[in-house]
Amino acid sequence: MKNILKPKTLTILISIVFITTVAVLSSCKTPALIAAKPGAQLWAENCTRCHNTPPPSIYSDAQWDAVGEHMRYKANLTDQEVTKVVAFLKSAN
Ligand code: HEC
Repeated sequence: MKNILKPKTLTILISIVFITTVAVLSSCKTPALIAAKPGAQLWAENCTRCHNTPPPSIYSDAQWDAVGEHMRYKANLTDQEVTKVVAFLKSAN
């Protein structure tokens, strides 16, 4: 009887499975990395994509809440990210 899976073929197959698993697992890590970013960093990285970062002092807490809602859609940020950015802005106004 012929060997269907030669050792070399088996090694290649195992490598493919391994690489795929690592790729899938590491792609799941990205949200965790983003989640670990502090509000000030999210603010600096995201809010400058379209305009200069507005200084935290120009708006009150209530106004930052409103801006956060508005920019959540514009910047395509998650709830968690907006909450952090707004918390940072409120802490610095
Ligand atoms: C995709 C582009 C884009 C991103 C990213 C973005 N903004 Fe804006 N922002 C705009 C535009 C366009 C306006 C002016 C027009 C408007 O208000 O819709 C604006 C206006 C504003 C204003 C003026 C008041 C207001 O609500 O209109 C503030 C303050 C502001 N942005 C803060 C932020 C903050 C904080 C972030 C980061 C969380 C951010 N923006 C991210 C596009 C963006």
